[in-house]
Amino acid sequence: MTSPLLIIVLAAGKGTRMKSAMPKVLHAIAGRSMLGHTLAAATDAGAASIAVVVGPGMDDVTSQAVALVPDVKIFVQHEQRGTADAVLAARDAIETHLSLTKGADAEPATGDIVVLYADTPLITVETIARLRATLDAGAHVAVLGFRARQPAGYGRLITDTSGRLLAIREDRDASPAERTIDLCNSGVMAFRLANLHQLLGRIGNANAKGEYYLTDAIELAAADGFTATVVECDEDDVLGVNARDQLAEAEAIWQARARRAAMRDGVTMIAPETVWLSFDTTLGRDVRIEPNVFFGPGVSVGDGAEIKANCHIEGARIGPGARVGPFARLRPGADLGSEVHVGNFVEVKNTTMAAGAKANHLAYLGDGAVGEAANIGAGTIFCNYDGFNKARTEIGAGAFIGSNSSLVAPVKIGDGAYIGSGSVITKNVEAGALALERSPQVAHPGWAEKFRTMMSRRTGKSKGAALLAATNMAKDKAPDRT
Ligand code: UD1
Ligand code: CA
Repeated sequence: MTSPLLIIVLAAGKGTRMKSAMPKVLHAIAGRSMLGHTLAAATDAGAASIAVVVGPGMDDVTSQAVALVPDVKIFVQHEQRGTADAVLAARDAIETHLSLTKGADAEPATGDIVVLYADTPLITVETIARLRATLDAGAHVAVLGFRARQPAGYGRLITDTSGRLLAIREDRDASPAERTIDLCNSGVMAFRLANLHQLLGRIGNANAKGEYYLTDAIELAAADGFTATVVECDEDDVLGVNARDQLAEAEAIWQARARRAAMRDGVTMIAPETVWLSFDTTLGRDVRIEPNVFFGPGVSVGDGAEIKANCHIEGARIGPGARVGPFARLRPGADLGSEVHVGNFVEVKNTTMAAGAKANHLAYLGDGAVGEAANIGAGTIFCNYDGFNKARTEIGAGAFIGSNSSLVAPVKIGDGAYIGSGSVITKNVEAGALALERSPQVAHPGWAEKFRTMMSRRTGKSKGAALLAATNMAKDKAPDRT
C-alpha cells in the first residue's frame, strides 16, 4: 500500500438493542470482545495509528482498547449524534494524520483513513486491503458493500449505470424504490481525501433519526467531483451485531471459519459443528477432536493429541500425543506434557503433568506438579484449599497414588513412592516409600449368618430378602444338570 493508514473504530453507540449492562462492543465472539476482533483486524491491516471513539463513561472499553493497542488514541463522543459526528470526535487524529502525510508544498495529503464499526467484528484484513487497493486505483472514497439476504435496516448503496456510487440512503429515509435495492452499506469506508474533516463538518441531520450520518459523506463527495466506489464482499464478513441473536449468528460464522481453517491445517474433527474454538486456540497436526468439545481462551494442543468427546478446556497446554477425556475438564494453568492421559471426570487446574503421567478417572488435581510417568488413581483429590490459602501438592516421577487418596497440601510425594488406596496423606512421603493411612482390616468368619439369626430372633422378622436373594443367586450360578 502506498499511503499511511489511520483506522478509526466507532464504538460509542449505547447498543440499547443488546439489553445489557455491558457496552455492546465488549460482548465476545470466540472468547474475545467484538472490540478486540476489530482492533486485531486494524492492527493486522497495518494501521500506522488507530483511534477508538467511545461514549462517555465507557471506561471498560477504553481500558480494553489500551490493553490491546498500547498507543491507541481514545476519543470521547459526548453525545451519540450519529456516525459522522462520531468520526468527527476523532478530528484531532484525522488532522494529525493528514498533516503528517501531507506531500511537499501544495501537494494534497494522501494518508488513507478507514472507518470500522466495532459492532462489525468479522471484517478481514484481506477485505480492508481490497478497499485500499481501490483508493490506489484512483477512487477518493471506497465503501464496502454486500448483497444482503434481508436488506431491511441497512443503508442502501445508490449507484449509477456504470457502478459509480452516488449516495447511501438509510433504510428509514429510503423511498419504496430505493428499498428494493439489495446492495447494502457495511459501514466500513475508506477515504483518501485531503479535506475529509471539512467535508464531514458539512453533513447535516435533516433525516428520520435527526442524526449526523457518515453515509451522507458520499453525496457530498460526489457533488464536489470526487469519485466514490463500492467494493463488494460477502455478507458474512460484515454482519452488523445490534442484538444478541446477531451476536450468536456472528459467533456461528466465526466458528465455521475457524473449524474449516483447523481442518485444512491437519486437524480431524468427527463432528466439527459441535467443536467450539477460541480466537487464540492453536491445534497441531493430526490432532483428533471428538464431538462436543469446548476450547476457551489460551489453549494449545500439540501434534497427534486426542481430545475425546465432551471436554471443557481453557488456559491449558496439551502436549503432543496426549489423550484427554472423554468428560475431562482442564482449567487455566493445566500443563500436560507429551503422552499424558487425563480421563473421564478428571479436573486439572494450575497443575503440571510431566510426560507420560496418567490420571485416568475421577480426580481433582489443583495447584500441583505430577512427575513423569506417575500414576494417579481413581478418586484422588489434591486438597489444595483450607478456606483461606491455596497450597501445592508435588508428586515425584513414577509415583503411584492409590485410588481414593486425599493429598492434603502442602505435601510432597517422592519419586517412585506408593500411596495405599484410601489414605489421607498430610505429611511428606520420601522417595520409594509406601505410605498408608487407614485402619487395619479385621475379618470375622461366619459373622454374617450369626448376625442374621440373632436379629431375626430379636425382631421376629424373617432373615430377609437379602438372604433370599443371595440363595437364589447361588442357585442361578449352579451348573446346569439337565
Ligand atoms: C449503520 C449505517 C448503515 C449500515 C449499517 C451497517 C449510518 C448512518 N448507517 O447503521 O448505513 O448499513 O451501519 O451495520 O452510518 N456509533 C457511534 N456514535 C454514534 C452512532 C453510532 O460511535 O453517535 C457507532 C456504533 O457504536 C456502531 C456504529 O457506529 O459501532 C454504527 O452505529 P449503529 O447505530 O449500529 O448504526 P446502524 O443503524 O446499524
Ligand atoms: Ca449497527
